[in-house]
Amino acid sequence: MKVEDIETPALLIDLNLMEKNLRTMKEWLAGKDLRLRSHFKTPKTPIIAWKEIEYGAIGVCAQKVGEAEVLVQAGMKDILITNQIVDPVKIDRMINLQRYSKIQVIVDNPVNVKCLSETALKKNTKLGVLVEVDVGGKRCGVQPGKETVELVRQISKMQGVEFKGLQCYAGYLQMAEHKIGFEKKMEEIKKVTERVDTTKDEIEDAGFDVETVTGAGTGTHRYEYEHYDEIQPGSYVLMDASYKPCAPWFDIALTLLATITSTPEPNRVVFDAGGKSISTDYGPPSLKDFKNTKCTIPSDEHGMIHFNESENHFDIGEKIEIYPSHLDTTINLHDKFYAVRNREVEAVWPILARGKFV
Ligand SMILES: Cc1ncc(COP(=O)(O)O)c(C=O)c1O
Repeated sequence: MKVEDIETPALLIDLNLMEKNLRTMKEWLAGKDLRLRSHFKTPKTPIIAWKEIEYGAIGVCAQKVGEAEVLVQAGMKDILITNQIVDPVKIDRMINLQRYSKIQVIVDNPVNVKCLSETALKKNTKLGVLVEVDVGGKRCGVQPGKETVELVRQISKMQGVEFKGLQCYAGYLQMAEHKIGFEKKMEEIKKVTERVDTTKDEIEDAGFDVETVTGAGTGTHRYEYEHYDEIQPGSYVLMDASYKPCAPWFDIALTLLATITSTPEPNRVVFDAGGKSISTDYGPPSLKDFKNTKCTIPSDEHGMIHFNESENHFDIGEKIEIYPSHLDTTINLHDKFYAVRNREVEAVWPILARGKFV
């Protein structure tokens, strides 16, 4: 099948570009004392996670137990859940996965660790935990230094759990160029890595082994990798229009295919993809190959292209490709990817972890 024959709206992956991104990451990693643990929250599709393993990733991250369940079913053997799991039912599900794969989880609270410890003991297993440090983003995590050492000390006294290292992801800096500019982003990264290093030193001085320090995403890994044992980028494999200026060495491999359904004014056309098929939490999407236009998503099933000159380039029925502004939330709206090479559909991949909110 050719791209032109796909019913819209539909998500396309340009396989040549996706493989180029994988190669770019692999070549950059070569010779470095650093492991890649790619984040599944972006592609939500096991075949892509396995491609990342083929290109050198040592395992994967998941954000939700539901994502980890999909990965385990797909045979993945090494999963780090980079989120706090506190609901007893979810803890139960997560620890049951240990029978099939190595599961580790992050923690930032002793009450939660106690619950993990008791459940793991009941199930006769031991769960590796990494302490999340708030390296500056003020999302989750304990404060660097003393507070982190104290939590590590408490973990060391509990059975059923084992302290494995530190989770230090600075989400707020990944695309900070847009808000504070590149120079300031570099200054902030320096502050983050100082917090990471001093916290690790303090834990080791207190007599505990820090096996793994993990962090860094698509937009920061090249600037801070020397302070980590593992990096956890997700977006790099497919990319989106917001991320591109912050990690220009990766290409946008993901587009939304849409059809022009109406041409109501000379400088405005309508396409068949609205808020139900493309997310706008990072702003409106953009039209591939047409710089002089602006897209808006005014409603659930309608998107619009606005031309600068009073000159419409399209007729109804024509297919267009749109770059999402935020890939994770867009992918989560779809059931499948069309994997395309040179305009021919090579495969259709179900997005098996889409909608896994729990
Ligand atoms: C904890 C964590 N790690 C890794 C990532 C992946 O980051 P990116 O998509 O910026 O590479 C995210 C993204 O939100 C995250 O929350």
